[in-house]
Amino acid sequence: MSGPDDLVSAALRARERAYAPYSRFQVGAALRTEDGAVFAGCNVENAAFPEGTCAEAGAIAAMVMGGGGRRIAEVVVAAEAKEPCTPCGGCRQKLREFGTAATTVRMVDAAGETVLLRRLGELLPDSFGPGSFMD
Ligand code: THU
Repeated sequence: MSGPDDLVSAALRARERAYAPYSRFQVGAALRTEDGAVFAGCNVENAAFPEGTCAEAGAIAAMVMGGGGRRIAEVVVAAEAKEPCTPCGGCRQKLREFGTAATTVRMVDAAGETVLLRRLGELLPDSFGPGSFMD
């Protein structure tokens, strides 16, 4: 059965792979394309701090490498934090490239419980995207 739960499981599994020796803040992300394919990623930090990459970026890279459809229908972000771990500004824009305003972004804790549910359009209103260029 595919549904929110399998996406949550994928995000939790991805979180276990996080390479976060500097922040100790482990994040997993999983996304489902409109075709139903699931891709996941974790954060990968670097001794040169700004070179680290977020879990969402890893999941997007996996999706593109997967070679199938690239429309993102749903995203789950898994972390254990004082506040819901919403995607950073850069990742909101990265998700916008392949998602829509209706794409759901679910934040879950380390137990997989939902702590916040948003639409991408709420996280990044009035956004610039691939359709924004002049023809
Ligand atoms: N991080 C993510 O991977 N995704 C988010 O949504 C927020 C933050 C990572 C980046 C860095 O490795 C660590 O969490 C602390 O900011």
